[in-house]
Amino acid sequence: MNKIGVIFDLDGVIVDTAKYHFLAWKNLADDLGFEFTETHNELLKGVSRVRSLEILLDIGKVNISEEKKQEYLISKNEDYLQYINKMGPEEILPGAEKLLDTLDTLGINYVLGSASKNAPLILKQVNLFHRFKGIVDGNSVSKAKPDPEVFLIGAKKLNLFPEQCIVFEDAIAGVEAANKANMTSIGIGDKETLSEADYNFNNLTEIPENFFENFLSDNN
Ligand code: BG6
Ligand code: MG
Repeated sequence: MNKIGVIFDLDGVIVDTAKYHFLAWKNLADDLGFEFTETHNELLKGVSRVRSLEILLDIGKVNISEEKKQEYLISKNEDYLQYINKMGPEEILPGAEKLLDTLDTLGINYVLGSASKNAPLILKQVNLFHRFKGIVDGNSVSKAKPDPEVFLIGAKKLNLFPEQCIVFEDAIAGVEAANKANMTSIGIGDKETLSEADYNFNNLTEIPENFFENFLSDNN
């Protein structure tokens, strides 16, 4: 394997938007009259917007019409966007920019592979949009993670075979998607939670300087 490319998840890997999703979903739960905790919020990580609403409604044991669901999806997102519109580069997670610099220096291309329909906006807010060779987001896929679709489209954008791609993910569903796609998965976060990943790091600052060179020599 003499050529590799990287696919980054966004939320939880490059920026911490889970706290904003939490605030917006909690607002909805408050309106519906039930408690939504940070522990509940863990269940929504890496999961699509529609699926997140279904999980939230299950937690509150709330039964509503399709029409109402559409209404809530819109109002939750409007709420969420109020937080996103205030984001800036200071919210880039530690180690992310340095990692992109390393990849640039090594001439390794990278694209985004995110479930979020707001991914392009978020990348622009933190001034990283222009650095990615391609963006695959929640608007580009018909099947959400753990389906590998998002990453397989990413591999096409990189002009590489799946086996040549390395995926950075913080969610169980994302690691599963990368593994199903036959890519190398790197779990960012709790090692126990992301035990299915090929490599584990607590955060991006822990990626060794020579990780990619070593990876290439091990796989040649
Ligand atoms: C993922 C997040 O990246 O995007 C999920 O981890 C979120 O929590 C999903 O539900 C969809 O995001 P959005 O921005 O399209 O509502
Ligand atoms: Mg994520």
